[in-house]
Amino acid sequence: MLLEAKNVSKTFRSRRGTEPVHAVRNATLRARPGEFVAIVGESGSGKSTLARILLDLIPAGSGSVELDGVPISAMTRTQRVEYRRRVQAVLQDPAGSLNPRKRVEQTIGEVIRLHRIATTRSQVRDKVREVLGLVGMNPAEDFLDRFPHALSGGQRQRVLVARAIALNPKIIVADEAVSALDASVKAGVLRVMADLKDRLGVGYVFITHDLPVVRKVADHVYVMRSGEIVEEGPKEAVFAEPSHPYTRALLAAAPVLR
Ligand SMILES: Nc1ncnc2c1ncn2[C@@H]1O[C@H](COP(=O)(O)OP(=O)(O)O)[C@@H](O)[C@H]1O
Ligand SMILES: [Mg+2]
Repeated sequence: MLLEAKNVSKTFRSRRGTEPVHAVRNATLRARPGEFVAIVGESGSGKSTLARILLDLIPAGSGSVELDGVPISAMTRTQRVEYRRRVQAVLQDPAGSLNPRKRVEQTIGEVIRLHRIATTRSQVRDKVREVLGLVGMNPAEDFLDRFPHALSGGQRQRVLVARAIALNPKIIVADEAVSALDASVKAGVLRVMADLKDRLGVGYVFITHDLPVVRKVADHVYVMRSGEIVEEGPKEAVFAEPSHPYTRALLAAAPVLR
């Protein structure tokens, strides 16, 4: 399976007659199951806009997003629903990804029901338990009845990962999914995500401004600046021999990772 953004651009035009913002310019990217693809770049470089386009939350202005060569815009309704199941989002919880009024079991259970991964009450419950186990929330019983406010930041991100993998996705688009967490908690959630790549074969489009994170987990790296992908390559190559001055500047400014 191959997820591709082909020459994707997105311009936001404000109604008040200010200058249009070219959030993404001619971006081309490929992601596959079992591969950890990172997009790095400073704040405002267009990473989240590209993520939202990949997730089919907003349309590309031009260019296309394709799954195995089929553009989203050409998909039938059924194919599109299937696309949205196979390409899952893990966003930052402070962005409101978890409903504060829903317990963990309901949060995960309702997407399982919606996509008919399981139907009976006990099947759904088993699936919820299974995915909580996969993200290291053991025993699941301790978490099923909790509301988000009764979870730590790291646990909330794990629930978001669990909800995503409950749908058996091929690719997870994670936008700053661990950025708000403290170092040790961040490392734990990252380990879980990397582990799922190996155990389930899921792929990631992992978006972050955090270079040490990329250095730790990525296979392939795309560097964005002012809406453009200015550099791309296997992690080792990009870190060892950055070809673009911007990448060199980013690396020079990043804290050294031990
Ligand atoms: N809905 C929107 N309307 C207008 N401008 C937007 C919108 N979303 C993002 N932008 C602008 O697009 C640019 C890229 O933003 P974003 O994709 O969020 O970057 P990043 O995630 O790398 O910080 C920024 O200048 C931002 O202000
Ligand atoms: Mg962003």
